[in-house]
Amino acid sequence: MKATKWWQNTAVYQIYPKSFNDTTGNGTGDLRGITEKLDYLKDLGAGALWLTPVYPSPMVDNGYDISDYTGINPQFGTLADMEELIAEAKRRDIRIVMDLVYNHSSDQHPWFIESKSSRNNAKSDWYIWRDAKPDGSAPTNWRGIFGGSAWTYCKERGQYYLHTFAEAQPDLNWENPEVRAALFAAANFWLDKGVGGFRIDAITYIKKPAVFEDGTPDAADGMVSVHTMTANTPGILDFLHEFRREVFDGHDIFTVGEANGVSVAELPDWVGENGVFSMLFEFAHVLVPYEGGECWSKMLPWPLTKLKGALSASQAGVAKEGWYPIYFENHDRARSVNYFFPHGGDTRLAAKALATILMTLRGTPFIYEGEELGMTNVKWDTIEAYDDISSHGQYELALKEGFSPAEALSFVHFNSRDNARTPMQWDTSKNAGFTTGTPWLPANENYRTINAAAEQADADSVLSYYKQIVRLRKTKPVLLDGVYEELLADNEQIYAFSRTAGNRRIVTAVNFSTEEAQLPAGFLKGVRLIGSYADAPKAALRPLEAVVYEEEVK
Ligand code: GLC
Repeated sequence: MKATKWWQNTAVYQIYPKSFNDTTGNGTGDLRGITEKLDYLKDLGAGALWLTPVYPSPMVDNGYDISDYTGINPQFGTLADMEELIAEAKRRDIRIVMDLVYNHSSDQHPWFIESKSSRNNAKSDWYIWRDAKPDGSAPTNWRGIFGGSAWTYCKERGQYYLHTFAEAQPDLNWENPEVRAALFAAANFWLDKGVGGFRIDAITYIKKPAVFEDGTPDAADGMVSVHTMTANTPGILDFLHEFRREVFDGHDIFTVGEANGVSVAELPDWVGENGVFSMLFEFAHVLVPYEGGECWSKMLPWPLTKLKGALSASQAGVAKEGWYPIYFENHDRARSVNYFFPHGGDTRLAAKALATILMTLRGTPFIYEGEELGMTNVKWDTIEAYDDISSHGQYELALKEGFSPAEALSFVHFNSRDNARTPMQWDTSKNAGFTTGTPWLPANENYRTINAAAEQADADSVLSYYKQIVRLRKTKPVLLDGVYEELLADNEQIYAFSRTAGNRRIVTAVNFSTEEAQLPAGFLKGVRLIGSYADAPKAALRPLEAVVYEEEVK
C-alpha cells in the first residue's frame, strides 16, 4: 500500500501533560506549558502531539478516570487554553491528538453517580451491574488490571459493578445505544474543535462476554485476570464499525487504538480499508520479558530473537493493508533504555540504538516525552514513594505470591509506570526546569546531565541524534514505503533489517549487546547515512552500535 496520508509521513510525540511543563508553579504541568514548548517540538520534527487525558478528573489514575468528556481539567487550564494550543500548533503544522477513554469513566462522573443511585433511574443500565453470588461474594473471580477484585459492591443498589481497572473506573455498558451515542457525541465535540486524531484507550475491553463465569485462577490470590476473560470478545468489531461511521469517517485525522489482546493475525479486521482504526498499538514487542500476561514478578531473561520476531511479525501483519505505530515507550512503560537493555551499557548509545529502529522501521514513529533525551528509570526506596496505582497493585500481588518486600520493590523499580512520569528534564535549574513549585513527582536526579538545554548544545547528544534521524526519515522515501525484510534473523546480538523500494535499499543494523558483534563479510554496503559512533564500523559492530546504510540495487 502506498503511504499517502500526512500522518504516515511524520513523527508523533506523546505528551504526559502532568509532567511536561508547569507555567503556574503549582507542581503539575499544564496546557500553556505545552504551547510554550511548541518550537522545541517543531524543531524535533513532530507533526502531531498526542496528549494523555486532559479532561476533568479526580486523577485516581492520572486522568484516565474522566468525570466530564468535553471539559478541561482546571489543573491543566481552560477550554480557551486548549483552543489556543490547537491553533498555535496548527500554525506550526502540528496537530493535537486527544486520548479517548471510553471503556470506563470516573466513579465521580454524573452518569455513574446517577446509575448507582438506584436500580431504576434513567442511567441504571449505563454501567455493568450484577448480583452477588449466593454467598454474597463478587459475581466472578476476576482480578482487575491494577490488582484486587474487578468488582466493587454498591450499597445503594445492593449489587456489584465491574471495573476492568481501578475501583474508581467503572466500565461503561456499550450494549446500551444511549451510552454509545453520548460517547460519540463527545468525540465529535473535539473534532469540531479541530483536533487531528484520537488515541483510543483500552479499547479491547469494551465488549463483555454474554455470560459472566469464573476463570481458572492464575495466581496465589485465587483470581484470574479480567484481561483473560474479556479482552477482544467477539462482537466488539460491530461497536467499533459504528464508532468509525459516527465519528472518524470523512475527517482527515488518524486514529490509533490501544489494543492489548489483538493478535497480528487479527490485524486486517482492525486496521486499513476494512478495519476500524488507522493504526493499532500492539503489545507483543513490549511484553517480551513477561512469561505471559503482565505480572511483574513473572519476568524472564529474553533472547533478542524474541523481540526481533515480534517486531517482524507486526511489520508483516500490516505490509499490505493498514499501518503500524512504532513505539518503545509510553506513559505505561518503564524507560526503554533500562527496559530493553537490562544488561546495562552506556544509556546514550542505548537510546540512539532504539531511535535508529524507531525511525527506520515501516510505520509512524511515536516518541514519548523525554525518550528523545535518553531519560532513564528512577529507583525510590519505598513503595510509598510511588504514585502509580498499578505499582501498588503489583507490589501487593508480589507479596501475596510469597516474595519479600525487597523483591517486590525491585519489580516496581524495573516496571513502574512512574519511571516514565517523572518531570520532563528541560535544564539544570531546580526541578529540571519543570516547575518553580514542588513537583508532583520528584525529578530524576540525573537531570543535571540529561536535559534538553545541555543536549541542544551538544552535537553528539541523544537529542541531536533524534533531530538528525527524524529529518533523515523525511528525506528518504524508501523509509516511508520501502518493503521490510529482516536480516540475520538467528543472530542473538544484532537486529538488522532492510527497506527496499525501486533501486534503493536501506539497511539498519543495531548491536543490542555490550560486546562486539561480528558482521558477515560485506554486510554493510554503500553509504553510511547515520550511526551512533563517530566513524564507520569495520568487521564488527561495537557495543550498542547502531548504523544505517544506503545502497543502490539492480
Ligand atoms: C490504558 C492507559 C493507562 C490507563 C488504563 C486505564 O492502558 O494507557 O495509562 O491506566 O488504560 O484507563
